[in-house]
Amino acid sequence: MEIQLMNVQRQHGTYAEEYETAVLQVLRSGRYIGGAEVSAIENEFADYEGAKYGISCGNGTDAIILALRALGIGKGDEVITVSWTFFATAESIAAVGATPVFVDVCADTYCMDVSKVEEAITEKTKCILPVHFYGHSADMDSLREICKKHNLFLVADCAQSAGTRYKGERKNTLGDISCFSFFPTKNLGCDGDGGMILTDNEDIARACRALKVHGSGRDGLWTLKREYDLKGEELPQNLPDGESKYYNYLIGYNSRLDAIQAAILRKKLTHLEEFINNRRNNAAFYNAALKNTSYVIPFESEECYHSYYIYALKHHNASDIMKRLQNKGVSCGTYYPVPLHLQGAFADLGYKMGDLPVTEELSRTTFAIPVFPELRDEERDYIINALLESE
Ligand SMILES: Cc1ncc(COP(=O)(O)O)c(C=O)c1O
Repeated sequence: MEIQLMNVQRQHGTYAEEYETAVLQVLRSGRYIGGAEVSAIENEFADYEGAKYGISCGNGTDAIILALRALGIGKGDEVITVSWTFFATAESIAAVGATPVFVDVCADTYCMDVSKVEEAITEKTKCILPVHFYGHSADMDSLREICKKHNLFLVADCAQSAGTRYKGERKNTLGDISCFSFFPTKNLGCDGDGGMILTDNEDIARACRALKVHGSGRDGLWTLKREYDLKGEELPQNLPDGESKYYNYLIGYNSRLDAIQAAILRKKLTHLEEFINNRRNNAAFYNAALKNTSYVIPFESEECYHSYYIYALKHHNASDIMKRLQNKGVSCGTYYPVPLHLQGAFADLGYKMGDLPVTEELSRTTFAIPVFPELRDEERDYIINALLESE
């Protein structure tokens, strides 16, 4: 048997007719950028997660970049984040000119270790950026408290956590700004690239909307004024004053979700709870079958409703076990093999092996197995047998 780690083709097949009809409608409408489908998914996804405003964009990486820019974060600022995440989390911080400051994660939830955050705060810190890793929520209430105490922004990287709940509600996973990815394999994935920013703050929403379309026109001028206000500096005099989109006030981005992706996302959103239930059922099945083995099963804290974007096991012999699974046709992988503080791209930050022991250990001992919603019963049985034979 050959089982893929993630299988988006199968997801398409489940509701193919629905998705294809929606795409055809967009193709025939002639409205490919912006328009009703894009506005609708912004409202529907914001409603689903429990936020006031949704601002769609090109991908999850852009969502973080736009969020940080909308908060006026840039050169000379520090953002506290985790190293146990996908590269884009810290890449986005560096992309706006700020410096990522890495803290370790908890050995059980794999999310930001809140007890390490305050010692990382300096006078340059502007923001804390946790990741709801694998679909498990970070400890948002404690982080909110720290942000309030130190007057910092809280930006949540929710790329892996559409549908995750914390203290009973999806909205409790959100920060001042929350950044989602609709990469095809994600809990809610489109058939290409896509992303969304959620916020309850009207000013932040307006700034994100301006920045994602080149910062032009009235909203661009307004956003520029806001950037100067946030820095406490005087706005340059004699700026040309024009409303049209061909008057540009700041260097923004071209980061749009297209109407075809929006139409697909709208259909998939109606099935998202079913997809997450299936992920959770697969996880529960694995947990029960592996309970008394040498595999360490994923942790779900009492406060969290895990969405299992990734189901990762922990084992001291992870690399050999992965080879054995692969030989038996079970695709698996480490998410992620190189923690960000040890990535070449961040070498100039001066971190070294040993700085974040939990993160480093997890990168050596964890591996993900298939948990996608359309996994078949016989495949789950096969995976468990392969794991038991590989122990
Ligand atoms: C934790 C995390 N942050 C950010 C991103 C970036 O999202 P995208 O690939 O849509 O740019 C991803 C995507 O894989 C992710 O997993």
